[in-house]
Amino acid sequence: MASQPRRVLISGCSSGIGLELAVLLAQDPRQRYQVVATMRDLGKKESLEAAAGDTLGKTLSIAQLDVCSDESVANCLSRIEGQPVDVLVNNAGVGLVGPLEELSLATMQNVFNTNFFGAVRLVKAVLPGMKRRRQGHIVVVSSVMGLQGVMFNDVYAASKFALEGFFESLAIQLRQFNIFVSMVEPGPVATHFEGKLLAQVSMTEFPDTDPDTLGYFRDMYLPASRELFRSVGQSPRDVAQVIAKVIGSTRPPLRRQTNARYLALTVLKAVDPSGSLYVRTAHRLLFHWPHLLSLGLRCLACSCLPTRVRPE
Ligand SMILES: NC(=O)c1ccc[n+]([C@@H]2O[C@H](COP(=O)([O-])OP(=O)(O)OC[C@H]3O[C@@H](n4cnc5c(N)ncnc54)[C@H](OP(=O)(O)O)[C@@H]3O)[C@@H](O)[C@H]2O)c1
Repeated sequence: MASQPRRVLISGCSSGIGLELAVLLAQDPRQRYQVVATMRDLGKKESLEAAAGDTLGKTLSIAQLDVCSDESVANCLSRIEGQPVDVLVNNAGVGLVGPLEELSLATMQNVFNTNFFGAVRLVKAVLPGMKRRRQGHIVVVSSVMGLQGVMFNDVYAASKFALEGFFESLAIQLRQFNIFVSMVEPGPVATHFEGKLLAQVSMTEFPDTDPDTLGYFRDMYLPASRELFRSVGQSPRDVAQVIAKVIGSTRPPLRRQTNARYLALTVLKAVDPSGSLYVRTAHRLLFHWPHLLSLGLRCLACSCLPTRVRPE
């Protein structure tokens, strides 16, 4: 007899990686999943409905869920009561870039409330059930910025580092309950994410930032970031395929990067755990050798190089 489909709850499915993943799992040819695709604003469900096609109402249902609200999480879970969550995908997230001088503590706390506490809130809600059933899988959409800092992304990277520390710690205890934790770490992905950040930046004035820092941000960081997205950016579909593979695995990995072209950067920290090699190299590339950085990115963009990290 075929086994029961696993129920997968995904946060942040109005666009991007969450939307692609929800549809990919719902269309699984082996029908292994029942997807609860959630979003904070159901007014945005049209794109997901269109992409879901005839899986809608069959292997995919849509529910409201704001990861920043206890009430919204409780309501969502009570609506699917009696149908345990086997796989939780913490995907919802927001970005933040810019000089620290212009970021209020409230703005920074909002990033942590969504990216970190939002994931923690969901885990606290589903974990007792997973522990009782002695099975489950918690997937976290982290980032390469959960592994290494990137200039002018201080707060966003900090929120992803926080996720990495939290879930690595939890993973040890959860092994005892047959619950797996996986952190997926994409590099740049062509979703609304970057557009939202650039829109945010274009509306910001920088009265408190000294001219040197503002120059580095506008004339060095922003062009380099755009080039990085253009050269090594993945599609959300590519990232969703990696996540689907992690979910389908019998022994899911704790960490999985999605972008082979980005490995040249993340490997610097692995090679030198003191972190000096990475910081020195990033500093030199940005401040002293921008042409080399640009050339390197163009080489990485060469179509003969693979984008996807080969599954283990
Ligand atoms: N794009 C990249 O370059 C990149 C790289 C590495 C990691 N990531 C991570 O990938 C994840 C998905 O991002 P994406 O690239 O797919 O960007 P996206 O298209 O902007 O998707 C982000 C999703 O999170 C949702 N969200 C934000 N705040 C929420 C809240 N309080 N409650 C519930 N949902 C909320 C957004 O909903 P609304 O439509 O309502 O805002 C949207 O559905 C994020 O965790 C991000 O940090 C992205």
